Amino acid sequence: MTDTPLQRLLPQIIDDLAGQGWSRQIHVLPETLTHELAAECRKRAREGALTPAGVGRGQGLAVREGIRGDSIQWLEHGQSAPGDRYLQALDELRQALNQAFFLGLEDFECHFACYPPGAFYQKHLDRFRDDDRRTVSAVYYLNEDWRAEHGGALRLYLPDEAELDVLPAAGTLVLFMSAELPHEVLPASRERLSITGWFRRR
Ligand code: OGA
Ligand code: MN
Repeated sequence: MTDTPLQRLLPQIIDDLAGQGWSRQIHVLPETLTHELAAECRKRAREGALTPAGVGRGQGLAVREGIRGDSIQWLEHGQSAPGDRYLQALDELRQALNQAFFLGLEDFECHFACYPPGAFYQKHLDRFRDDDRRTVSAVYYLNEDWRAEHGGALRLYLPDEAELDVLPAAGTLVLFMSAELPHEVLPASRERLSITGWFRRR
């Protein structure tokens, strides 16, 4: 087991997801690890490894900057030590969610995402029409010294017309039920880095 603050947050996360379908936590991983993940994301961007994200999947996959303007690269096991630590921490969360909810979450897939200044992702649900395996969305933010005036919030559209804006500040993890909460990424005045992922069931 990795020793991460995430473990101590598990009861709160489970309570939140059960009661309201979403959870926001701060200081989720050690600062040094978050810093290393940000450096890795920037390195991948510099080396041209991130590619414009698509909308849809399979034959229906298309790049549409009017819908989303981020560039991404999938994070796989064995690519880097910080990446592996991230995947391990999220796998422990997957197991805890399975124990609490019997969701049958089988795996976790995630990608680095970089939104250049001005980029956004229009309101959407994290579920493909032809694939309903994505069950819980998990977005981890890597941006040090993020302030409200930088913009770039994740806006969650909660039931009963409420909206919740989450700033993409380093160390913040947002979880929500993929099929239930529409959300969007607002444009920012600076580069916005994250690791966006999904716990998937069989
Ligand atoms: C997504 C997404 C949210 C964020 O990639 O599907 O909604 O805050 N990302 O980056
Ligand atoms: Mn989304």
